[in-house]
Amino acid sequence: MSEARSLEVVFPGDTNHLGTLFGGTLMAWMDRAAYFAASRRARGTVVTRKVDELEFRVPIHVGDFVELVATVEAEGRTSMSVVVEVHREDPADGARELCTTGHFVMVCVNDDGTPREIPPL
Ligand SMILES: CC(C)(COP(=O)(O)OP(=O)(O)OC[C@H]1O[C@@H](n2cnc3c(N)ncnc32)[C@H](O)[C@@H]1OP(=O)(O)O)[C@@H](O)C(=O)NCCC(=O)NCCS
Repeated sequence: MSEARSLEVVFPGDTNHLGTLFGGTLMAWMDRAAYFAASRRARGTVVTRKVDELEFRVPIHVGDFVELVATVEAEGRTSMSVVVEVHREDPADGARELCTTGHFVMVCVNDDGTPREIPPL
């Protein structure tokens, strides 16, 4: 199964008034991670069809490192189910914890945006 990993660092401009990572920014990072994993598997362009079970368990603070791991867990004819896990890492001591998870349905598309069959592995 295809997987993609990406790293971010939380800057003050990424936060809300509590000094923790703004949820909308994290959702964009997760969507990108899901894109990387699905596009790598489909060898082409994909679009987001559905986002499900997005759960913000633990806040992420300014200065934290953020690791996103996206994994294609299942695939159909044109669609893929991608799970994204987000861990924060405290740069001071390396402590890591799972903060957020989400399930994405990504659809492989042609240049005109119509669904395209996922090529065989
Ligand atoms: C994604 C899109 C191309 C699908 O087009 P469509 O005409 O609905 O295509 P289909 O009905 O054939 O569905 C395509 C696949 O998505 C799956 N799908 C559609 N809706 C779904 C849902 N709500 N949940 C799970 N899977 C779904 C279908 O089962 C099918 O999968 P399969 O081929 O593996 O069986 C179209 O809905 C679209 O362009 N949506 C907007 C995408 C977008 O702008 N995203 C944000 C920016 S990336």
